[in-house]
Order: sequence, then structure tokens, then C-alpha cells
Amino acid sequence: MSFRWGVAGPGGIAARFADAMTTVDDGDIVAVASRSASRADAYGDRFGIARRYGDYAGLAEDRDVDIVYVATPQSRHVDDALLYIEAGKHVLCEKPLALNARQAQQMVDAAHAAGVFLMEAIWSRFLPSYVALGHLLADGRIGEPLFVEADFGFRTAVDPAARHFDLALGGGGLLDLGIYPVQLSTLVLGLPDRISADGVIGATGVDEQVAAVLHHPGDRMSVVKAALRVPMACTARIAGTDGWIGLPAFMHCPTWLDVGALGTVDRIDAPYEGDGLRFEVLEVHRCLNEGLRESPGMSLAESVAIAGILDTIRAQIGLVFPGD
Ligand SMILES: NC(=O)c1ccc[n+]([C@@H]2O[C@H](COP(=O)([O-])OP(=O)(O)OC[C@H]3O[C@@H](n4cnc5c(N)ncnc54)[C@H](OP(=O)(O)O)[C@@H]3O)[C@@H](O)[C@H]2O)c1
Repeated sequence: MSFRWGVAGPGGIAARFADAMTTVDDGDIVAVASRSASRADAYGDRFGIARRYGDYAGLAEDRDVDIVYVATPQSRHVDDALLYIEAGKHVLCEKPLALNARQAQQMVDAAHAAGVFLMEAIWSRFLPSYVALGHLLADGRIGEPLFVEADFGFRTAVDPAARHFDLALGGGGLLDLGIYPVQLSTLVLGLPDRISADGVIGATGVDEQVAAVLHHPGDRMSVVKAALRVPMACTARIAGTDGWIGLPAFMHCPTWLDVGALGTVDRIDAPYEGDGLRFEVLEVHRCLNEGLRESPGMSLAESVAIAGILDTIRAQIGLVFPGD
């Protein structure tokens, strides 16, 4: 079957999503919703989408939409996702799933009650490089992984009106960028049992630098970092008892992996054509075709747990969102 997608929030990532959808055979974007009719029209014109809504509720009432891609700022994810879930639509929601674990759990409970699919759009998990990473770890290529380090940061000009610097929209480096190092940590080492974090809160109230040390059961550790005011290497390393795996920049979407041991480094290529967002779309389709209501690759329990890790880090660095 061919899936009919709606897009809520025709901004930057939604444009990339539309490009990615052109390379997917069994799905199309058939409708778009914006707060403004003219922005919905602009997106519709650009990507050839016939049905345009000048409010988010119109898309919820569209009976010919199966799945909604929620691509609004994180502060809106809970309300937007609930709107579509309660209308019986499957939802792929941009990361982070919500502003905090309480909202994330509310979304999960609603999806369970409505019997619809829900997934946080951590696209990394479905890329060829992350699939290769899973095989390397499962095959014991580096022995037992004990240590994960990852960083993600860009220099961004401070602009109080921009999403990244707007506390009310859930701005800051941690939720926008830091979530990728955190999801690598939980992918490889599972959930932490202790977290120690520090950060720098800037003039607009959001975190501009943050670092956290996560201790995992079994004496394993991760170090995660994010920044809005400095370019970071945006790489990651996983150290195991018999070697290490390097994820080159950008660590959330690498096209190869380095596998090192005893002075040797092997390169594992994992290239892909076009926009890598299509792999998460294919995963949504696969799950729906198999009757699944969540993806084993990015489970809802893990998404709620990641939201909880971000909550703990935020509490330690004093990053509080309105309505938290
Ligand atoms: N997967 C990735 O690689 C990736 C990359 C970038 C961002 N993201 C995630 O995607 C989401 C959107 O990010 P983006 O960079 O696309 O943001 P963006 O360019 O600012 O677009 C967000 C869209 O949301 C809509 N919106 C609804 N309420 C809004 C409000 N109160 N303020 C501002 N916009 C509002 C706006 O459309 P209308 O005004 O037309 O309704 C806007 O175009 C975020 O959750 C972010 O973390 C993911």
C-alpha cells in the first residue's frame, strides 16, 4: 500500500523531509498544515502538494491522511502530536519527542489509547552507518563496549528571535543537538544510573554549552557534549575491551565508521544517496506494514527514558522551560 503523509510545520526540516519523500516509493505527502495559509501554500507550491491548511486542526480532520510528520518546534510537539494521535493518525514526531519526560509519556499513553503508531524521528538509528554499528557491536568486534564519547556543536549567532535561542520554544544546545550524543549513549550502553552535568546558560536563558558524564550499570560510562556557540568536532568514539569504533562528523549521520584495534584502523563504508531522512520513513512504513505501533529501533520506552536523561541534565544546569 502507499501511505499518505501530512506535514505539520513547513519549516527547515520539513523541506528536507519533502525532498527525502521524493525518493520513497510507497508514500507521498498529500497535505500540509501551517499557522498561516500563505506558508502552507508556499510549501504546497514548492513540493507539489495539493491540500493546504492554514491551521493545524484542518490536517487532523483530513480523512485521507494516514501519518502526520510533526515538524514544529519542540515546545509544540506534545500539543501537535496529541491533536493528530487523538484524530486517529499515526505520528512521526521530530526530536526531541517532547520538552520533558512527562509530556513524552503523555504522548505515548495517548498513542497506546488510540492504537496508532508513534515514533521520535531519531533518523540516525535507521541510517546504513548505524545499522552497520549495530552489527559490529552484536558481532563483538570491539569486545564489550565500556565507554562512549560524543559531541555535537555549531557556532550560531545569538539571535533571541531564533528557535535555538528561544526558551519558550525549547531552545538550547542540549535538546536540539545534545540529544544525538545521548541517543548514541543509550543505544550502546543502555540507560544510565547516575548523571553529572554542568553547563553555561546564555543571555536568552538557554544552554549554550553543556557536558554530562553518564555512569551506566556495570562500570560503563559515557561523556556527552553539545554547544551552540562553538563548532565542535561532531564526532563520537565507542571504546570496548578489544578496540574502538569512531563515528566521523557528523556523528548523527556518518557515511563510514572507523574500527580500530592494536594500531590498525579499518574503514567500514556506509554511504547513501539523497537525504538520509528517507530511512526513518521506510522504517515507519515497514512497521505499519507489519502491524507494529512502535519501532524496535527507536522504542517509545527509550524515547521517554532519553527525555528523562535530558530532564536530569537540565535540572543540574538550571535550564527550565516555561510550563515544565
Ligand atoms: N532531524 C533533524 O536532523 C532535524 C534538523 C533540524 C530540526 N529538527 C527538529 O525539527 C523541529 C523543527 O525544526 P526546524 O529547524 O525545521 O524549525 P523551523 O525552521 O523554525 O520550522 C518550524 C516550523 O514550525 C511551525 N511553528 C509552529 N508553531 C511555531 C512557533 N510557535 N514558533 C515557530 N514556529 C512554529 C512554523 O511553521 P508555521 O509558522 O508555518 O506554522 C515553522 O516553519 C524541531 O523539533 C527540531 O529539533 C530536526
